[in-house]
Amino acid sequence: MKITVFGTGYVGLVTGACLADVGHSVVCVDIDEDKIARLRRGEIPIYEPGLESMVLRNVEAERLAFTTDAAQAVRHGVLQFIAVGTPPDEDGSADLQYVLAVAATIGHHMEEYKVVVDKSTVPVGTADRVQERISGVLAERGVELAFDVCSNPEFLKEGSALEDFTRGARIVVGSAAARVDELMRECYAPYNRNHEKMMFMSVRAAELTKYAANAMLATKISFMNEIANLAERLGADIEDVRRGIGSDPRIGYHFIYPGCGYGGSCFPKDVQALSRTAAKVGYNAELLEAVEAVNRRQKTTLFDKLSAAFGGDLQGKTIALWGLAFKPETDDMRDAPSRTLMESLWSSGAVVQAYDPEAMRECRRIYGERDDLILVADRVQAVRKADALVICTEWKEFRTLDAAWIRDQLRHPVVVDGRNLYEPEVMRAAGIDYYAVGRGKTL
Ligand code: UGA
Repeated sequence: MKITVFGTGYVGLVTGACLADVGHSVVCVDIDEDKIARLRRGEIPIYEPGLESMVLRNVEAERLAFTTDAAQAVRHGVLQFIAVGTPPDEDGSADLQYVLAVAATIGHHMEEYKVVVDKSTVPVGTADRVQERISGVLAERGVELAFDVCSNPEFLKEGSALEDFTRGARIVVGSAAARVDELMRECYAPYNRNHEKMMFMSVRAAELTKYAANAMLATKISFMNEIANLAERLGADIEDVRRGIGSDPRIGYHFIYPGCGYGGSCFPKDVQALSRTAAKVGYNAELLEAVEAVNRRQKTTLFDKLSAAFGGDLQGKTIALWGLAFKPETDDMRDAPSRTLMESLWSSGAVVQAYDPEAMRECRRIYGERDDLILVADRVQAVRKADALVICTEWKEFRTLDAAWIRDQLRHPVVVDGRNLYEPEVMRAAGIDYYAVGRGKTL
């Protein structure tokens, strides 16, 4: 099957590579010439386990190609995936300018029937706007061509995107035409072998499904963080409570890990965008507002705990940071808790000495060279001559820690653990002033 994918960001690249990998002929198109040139040389702009080799073997097999030539790209595929960015605009709504620009491009160049597939996370009603834009361009051209627009949201997690694409729980397709359903079934057939994963529904239901899934997951996390904060103040251990509630299958063990707040490119943006969508239709989505507010506050707890441990004075202190990415196995720092912490530390006159296995280049890109940001080559150098240690990301290599060793490295034996990686008794027995999330010590 011939497929075109607009956008070579996270979603576009994974979608293109995975569809090529099962034998489809895929053209990925982007307006960023530099990016396309790099992809052609085999340089993958993002870190995602397995993606590089998948892209390379499919380029080699001539099933996957990269271009900036939109006309050629539109000619190629019967399916035209739109996987460009939908960044939040000033009020937190999703900015659709890139999606609609692609719609216009498709309208300009199409010469035969196309199915336009919204893959980006877009507010409910976007497919209608894409439809209108294409119809408008076709009318300007004075041609009459049939096309359909459908919604096919992605449910990828960074760090396990290939696995999620190839072994996802469901493939949601929102459409209003039987021929779209047939083509989408054909497209995904290789990933739909063992049991029926395709779910066909209305376009609006598919669009809302995507937001509802992320909002539900974000709600679970904010809920747990709220209970963890309570547990700290009530003298209960959140780890006991987590196991206690997770054992009920109606609740389940997934996504109830308390921490220093959720980050990344999806949850913060999507929860906000859904609240704004609600407001636009005159509904006050109080629960979503609270989920967001709890998360904002949770991101400040690392600093609050550290500051309390130093009697409110962090001026001139060097703080070791383990982990900059918003979660392990990615170099993504969008809305990462580490950023809230670093920015507060800098405002208080502290120096950050940080290490992350993947995100250091990204950190430098965001913050540039500055005297109060020292990026070091490994976790050992990060704690050398530091006053305290803060753990922001649960990378595997941070999970093993010799408590006595860390105590001897730090000028003050203070460890603030935003991911509950260690047992408080073990740390405290070694003489460490240990602050976890919801595990005993309050501010
Ligand atoms: C998320 C969803 O999990 C995907 O299903 C969805 O497709 C994707 O957004 C998207 O919309 O594109 P992702 O942002 O990559 O995926 O990352 P997650 O693994 O879900 O983690 C999000 C944040 O929640 C991280 O900061 C993580 O540390 C935090 N988290 C997660 C917790 O604090 N506690 C948990 O129990 C789980």
